[in-house]
Amino acid sequence: MPQWVYHSPGEGQTLELGIQLGRLLEQPALILLQGDLGAGKSVLARGIARGLGVPEEIPITSPTFTLMNHYPARLDLYHFDLYRLSDPDELIEIGFDDFAYGKGVALVEWPDRLDDDETPGLWVRIRHLGEDCRELVFSPCGKAAEALSRRLQKEVTG
Ligand SMILES: Nc1ncnc2c1ncn2[C@@H]1O[C@H](COP(=O)(O)OP(=O)(O)OP(=O)(O)O)[C@@H](O)[C@H]1O
Ligand SMILES: [Mg+2]
Repeated sequence: MPQWVYHSPGEGQTLELGIQLGRLLEQPALILLQGDLGAGKSVLARGIARGLGVPEEIPITSPTFTLMNHYPARLDLYHFDLYRLSDPDELIEIGFDDFAYGKGVALVEWPDRLDDDETPGLWVRIRHLGEDCRELVFSPCGKAAEALSRRLQKEVTG
């Protein structure tokens, strides 16, 4: 898979990258955000939401306890945080597949809980390099994610 790396020197740059990605979204997509606590998954998610057109006055908060937040935008946005998922059956209860493979954009924090690292979608793996430095590795899985990843890479690296 054609993966590429972006080095973010600060929160603002990660947010900006998310906005760029969100602006590129024109069709249903699944974006899987992997990384430790405090890596920057929610920062990137907030950027994507803004780029998709969720207005600034609507706060993008982590759905840690609710598992999912829904934001109407250019495409419907479903933001998942599976950190507290204790039982895979809960995924069925919340209708995960309908959102992840539906008509909108699904962002998933803690996709490790899905127990499937080959899930088709755009995988973004975020790693701490230093206090404010993060490495973001974009690894698309599947044709649609590859196209999206390539467009973002082109925009970011010129
Ligand atoms: N380059 C950077 N990119 C993103 N966040 C950064 C960066 N540098 C510092 N930070 C800080 O790291 C934190 C990232 O928090 P965030 O909530 O996005 O993490 P998370 O990966 O969603 O964690 P959790 O698993 O707890 O949900 C924020 O406090 C942010 O200010
Ligand atoms: Mg988070």
